Amino acid sequence: MHDAEIDQLFGPGGRLGQEVGGFRARQSQTEMAKAIAGAIAGQATLIAEAGTGTGKTFAYLVPALLWGGKVIVSTGTKNLQDQLFQRDIPTVRRALNVPVSVALLKGRANYVCHYHLERTLENGRLTSRDDIGYLRAISRFMKTTQSGDKAELAQVPETALIWNLVTSTRDTCMGAECQYYQDCFVMKARKEAQQADVVVVNHHLFFADVALKDTGVAELLPSANTIIFDEAHQLPDTATLFFGETISTSQVLELCRDVLAEGLSHARDGAEWAKVVMPVERAARDLRLAFPQDFVRFSVSQIAASSAFFPALKTLRKEFRAMIQTLESQAERADTIEQCRTRAIELGTRLDQWNAPTVAGAATADDKSGDGQECVLWVEAFSSSLQLHRTPLSIAPIFNKQREGVPRAWIFTSATLAVKNDFNHYASQMGLGNAPAQTWPSPFDYGQQGLLYVPHQMPQPNSPDYTDAVIDAALPLIEAAGGRSFLLCTTIRAVKRAAERLRAEFEQRQLPFPLLVQGEAGRTELLERFRAAGNAVLIGSQSFWEGVDVRGEALSLVIIDKLPFSPPDDPVLAARIEVMEKKGMNGFMHHQLPEAIITLKQGAGRLIRDEADRGVLMICDPRLISKPYGKRIWQSLPSFKRTRELNVAQAFFATPE
Ligand SMILES: Nc1ncnc2c1ncn2[C@@H]1O[C@H](COP(=O)(O)OP(=O)(O)OP(=O)(O)O)[C@@H](O)[C@H]1O
Ligand code: SF4
Ligand SMILES: [Mg+2]
Repeated sequence: MHDAEIDQLFGPGGRLGQEVGGFRARQSQTEMAKAIAGAIAGQATLIAEAGTGTGKTFAYLVPALLWGGKVIVSTGTKNLQDQLFQRDIPTVRRALNVPVSVALLKGRANYVCHYHLERTLENGRLTSRDDIGYLRAISRFMKTTQSGDKAELAQVPETALIWNLVTSTRDTCMGAECQYYQDCFVMKARKEAQQADVVVVNHHLFFADVALKDTGVAELLPSANTIIFDEAHQLPDTATLFFGETISTSQVLELCRDVLAEGLSHARDGAEWAKVVMPVERAARDLRLAFPQDFVRFSVSQIAASSAFFPALKTLRKEFRAMIQTLESQAERADTIEQCRTRAIELGTRLDQWNAPTVAGAATADDKSGDGQECVLWVEAFSSSLQLHRTPLSIAPIFNKQREGVPRAWIFTSATLAVKNDFNHYASQMGLGNAPAQTWPSPFDYGQQGLLYVPHQMPQPNSPDYTDAVIDAALPLIEAAGGRSFLLCTTIRAVKRAAERLRAEFEQRQLPFPLLVQGEAGRTELLERFRAAGNAVLIGSQSFWEGVDVRGEALSLVIIDKLPFSPPDDPVLAARIEVMEKKGMNGFMHHQLPEAIITLKQGAGRLIRDEADRGVLMICDPRLISKPYGKRIWQSLPSFKRTRELNVAQAFFATPE
């Protein structure tokens, strides 16, 4: 029905071709667009897979903008949101010449809050010179920005602590009472999202909302006709994160601080406020101190029965209840105390639901929650706080409930959903039953366009000088490629070390390649500079592995330091594997390996984005050759030619096209 129109748009001389340089008719892309148009028209669910770089973005945007009604597009990361909003959607809208309105919606913490900025400017006791400079920059930024989105202010690093002081949380937002409500960027973004035809969100935001109802997505859902998840392979993990529950001792301490402040200013005679909060604070601190280490994670079953954790938790619960009682009796003295009461009850309830078994020896990782879900209880220690997590092992039933009710189209798309052409694993993880699923073949000639190079003589990936060995092995190839490289690392630490080394080497060898390092500027800006430079080298971690699109010669070499296995200390992963092994499956072969293959395919997929693209994929990890599972890994990558010889790889760049 819409097929003819799609044929025309995507076909030779079609309107997309007029907007996009180097556009060619790709049969798989056209067919995929038709299937998506069909699902939209029939308000159906569709699982749609097509390889990296094959143009899925246009394949869903065209039918969505033409026939999708109110559309929510959710993608993996904030920088992919920006890529869609700033680049792909405007292109498609121009090509289609349709008057659809588009809005970008991010989480609250991305927008500068007038109220908190004002407070910080008035009484912020900033100690570091960086912070003072950043605050000044944020102040200036507020005078010109339309969106208040911190991504627009690349000058202040995304991870700078100052952002915490000038953004709001659900707990600290004044809402309709706020004097800045009219100008508030959070409210503005939500209003725009309400009114727009197409709203671009990310998976975290989408699922955070199911748990917190604070991001504005919940208000959008009822009116949405079409929901599209790009990078849909990430959904099981992201959803798991949010369908679970987390309580942090810092939330408790924050609440105590507010209770004390509000109590003293509005109900000084109502209670001995310091005595009310102190035992709670002490219990929260004791809970943290039960673990001497920083940055560790344990499932409940891994915590020794004799650990101070269990009695501390019991005390915290008891003292928390006492504080709630005081708040109950004083709540009517002031709105702010009433607010504290509501927060306390909510937090208290979650604290009670986190039923760590207290009986010595009887500890188990599994906990049947109220809705009959299997959950894993685990804790995570940070330098000054402890988080208690309760994570469901399967999100299928919860997500299924989300999809019930109003009929609408649900599109799940990604390059990596099926395992050997079988979508069952994905569909059952997501609770999609036997929804139709389809794969479209890649239009690229991988054997001609790409080369997989695995260097000789790499040390074991856990050896301390591993990153240096990666750089030593990669340098001659980076030189041969004339820059034009992505170095994708599995850890931030490796990013830092690699950056240090490359900076020094480039200087010493007088190589003119601009070095772009994740964290040194916003991601969108880094990518823009990378595309513009034409001979740059970019070093990044996770967020550059997926969805990132640099078409053409600017990117000709993708270097991957290690096979991307998830960290073995992840308690949720451990619990999943335990469940699998109980069923007689091998956790490594059935879970960790397939997950790592997906991530690796995504990383490798940054290379070939076009019929004319050529490039080398260098995977440094020796396990690709030495381990029995290595073969399964390289066999699941695009069918590049393969070599282990540096000179062959170097020669690839010298061959005329
Ligand atoms: N038919 C086409 N001809 C030429 N280029 C195209 C065509 N369709 C899309 N492109 C361009 O190809 C590049 C890759 O497209 P896109 O980013 O949509 O890939 P993808 O399928 O989403 O890959 P990934 O799974 O890695 O996200 C983009 O630069 C896009 O503009
Ligand atoms: S409404 Fe909330 S987010 Fe907006 S300016 Fe006020 S306190 Fe900040
Ligand atoms: Mg994509």
